[in-house]
Amino acid sequence: MAKIHLIIPAAGKGSRAGSPLPKQFSSIGSKTIIEWIEFIFSNVSSVSSISIAVNPNEHYIENIAPRFSAKTTVYKSGGDTRSETVLNTLNDIKKNVDSNDWVMVHDAARLGINESMINKFISEIDGHKVGGIMAIPVSDTVKRVDKLGIIIGTENRNEIWLAQTPQMFRYKILKKAIEQFKGSPTDECEAVELLGLKPKIFPGNTSNFKVTYPEDMEHIKAIFHPDSEGETND
Ligand code: CTP
Ligand code: MG
Repeated sequence: MAKIHLIIPAAGKGSRAGSPLPKQFSSIGSKTIIEWIEFIFSNVSSVSSISIAVNPNEHYIENIAPRFSAKTTVYKSGGDTRSETVLNTLNDIKKNVDSNDWVMVHDAARLGINESMINKFISEIDGHKVGGIMAIPVSDTVKRVDKLGIIIGTENRNEIWLAQTPQMFRYKILKKAIEQFKGSPTDECEAVELLGLKPKIFPGNTSNFKVTYPEDMEHIKAIFHPDSEGETND
């Protein structure tokens, strides 16, 4: 049976979050964000390995001395772009995976996810040929605008979804997709789509937003309750 391998790209600088410390190494309660994400996914029994990709020129991960699960390995596989980071990590784990295994990628900046959401996502996407992504429908009306800020149309919002992570694809498809993509895809899915494949949407939750700006960090600190999450840790 195909295994599921998680990659957490954590090699970004978090420049928009405005703190010198990359956001994934910021603390919320007793752990850093990267440790919370690893903790949440390590409890998902169908995830057989977790690979955390960090910047080879930084030592934040050593400095926090994390207590990761036995499933988890840290790779110094960070690249200049997120997709380079993912591709480098796919190459690093190659010997431990089957080309038909699933690779699930989850941002080190999306903390508002839990075991139950992950399990539902996996059971839905596992049955699909290509794979798929968590995403949310847009609630506002969507306008198309020209370069001067003039509205040139109204989109059919029923057809527009906002992509999140996790994103899950077969190892061989994901690797080929990123290798063949010219430039940098904004997410794994864009590269897979360009192969002519049709990934599936799984309805996610707004809580799974990406910490990007300082106000996002304030928001996640307000809604994430590490003490109750952490009770099952020991
Ligand atoms: N990421 C990565 N390698 C890169 C760039 C980004 O592993 N070269 C990771 C980030 O660490 C994060 C995820 O990709 O987990 C999503 O990226 P983003 O939110 O853009 O994070 P940063 O690139 O760190 O932030 P910014 O763009 O504001 O600098
Ligand atoms: Mg970025």
